[in-house]
Amino acid sequence: MSGTAGHPAAPAALLTTTPAPHGGAEGPGQEPHWSHHPALPGVIARLAAAPPLVDATETRRLRAALASVARGERLVLQAGDCAESLAECDPDRAAHRVAVLVALGDHLQRGSGREVVRIGRMAGQFAKPRSRPTERVGGRELPAFRGHMVNSEEATPTARRPDPRRMLRAYDASAHVFHALREQRQPHTGVDGPWASHEALIRDYEAALVRSTPGTGPPLLTSTHLPWVGERTRGPGSPHVALLASVANPVACKIGPTATPDDVLLLCRVLDPDRTPGRLTLIVRMGRARIARTLPPLVAAVRRAGHPVVWLCDPMHGNTVRAAGGRKTRYLPDLIAEAAAFRTVLDRQGQHAGGVHLEVAADEVTECVGGPVHREDQLGERYTTLCDPRLNPEQARRLLNTWA
Ligand code: PEP
Ligand code: CO
Repeated sequence: MSGTAGHPAAPAALLTTTPAPHGGAEGPGQEPHWSHHPALPGVIARLAAAPPLVDATETRRLRAALASVARGERLVLQAGDCAESLAECDPDRAAHRVAVLVALGDHLQRGSGREVVRIGRMAGQFAKPRSRPTERVGGRELPAFRGHMVNSEEATPTARRPDPRRMLRAYDASAHVFHALREQRQPHTGVDGPWASHEALIRDYEAALVRSTPGTGPPLLTSTHLPWVGERTRGPGSPHVALLASVANPVACKIGPTATPDDVLLLCRVLDPDRTPGRLTLIVRMGRARIARTLPPLVAAVRRAGHPVVWLCDPMHGNTVRAAGGRKTRYLPDLIAEAAAFRTVLDRQGQHAGGVHLEVAADEVTECVGGPVHREDQLGERYTTLCDPRLNPEQARRLLNTWA
């Protein structure tokens, strides 16, 4: 007898699993196609023998700082480029980027009256997930740019070919940026850091930098202090989630508008099985139009399940639009509105709105509209991003002012 005989048809929504958030290239599909590249084994061997970029003392301190955020005592500012450039990791450029992060943290600290934990999207943010495997540039269909760890943004088929040797360049560049971060440690702020974070996307790279010390519990992912899983790779059975579940670092995960309470609870169970404050940060990126509807059930589910997560608002990635000229942009009022709605949702449930996750350039770019960039037709003036449109520092300060 048929198993469904006599039962009413279930509503379609209950039959479908969570749709892939952006269609196309999700999950392991985000891995570069380089498994047969002759250089790959040697690159992995060199990474596996390379000195760790972070140590357990640092990651423990960040975990403790994030625990205090989870308790409602501090705020997080996580900020930096969408895609870091290998060309901007020399000592001067790296120091400048770190200085902008620190200054924005100071700004938020003054405005909010709370200590701010500063975390850069830097020292390893070299790999980008893409919604489509190819893109049209100047009338040509080319493999998508996937970040400097994988290929080059230059618009030729050769430049877009994935090259595993780029992982070594990314490691070396990261080491330089870590040096700049450590140079600007500010003990007087009361909060350690600034810290580093990036999306742990390229498993060949990340797995080679996992190190264990016998007898000291889970191994450490030594590529960064705070690795995160992106919206496109967080799905059920994700190897990226499994990798972060296995390491001792504080970890984070992006949560977009298709996430159900069950999806988020599963992520919490896997990434924070012991309900440890500071272990798991959820970075919410819903979009201005959707956050008021999509976020409350997720916050309620996590609260009821007792996971002491840090809730961060990424107002960037749900608010990307195409400007008339075809460039990707974001409107500052949309970002401010999403951040305000985020705080309202958290406040209503008695939860701490833990801070913001921003894409900010260290220079006066014109990639988002708002503040000093009055109109879309100014976007062409200094549009230099390798990937998503970033705020310039003044636009970021305006957004942070609304948090205060
Ligand atoms: C990003 O942070 O640049 C990014 C790709 O975000 P998401 O995974 O949320 O789309
Ligand atoms: Co981005």
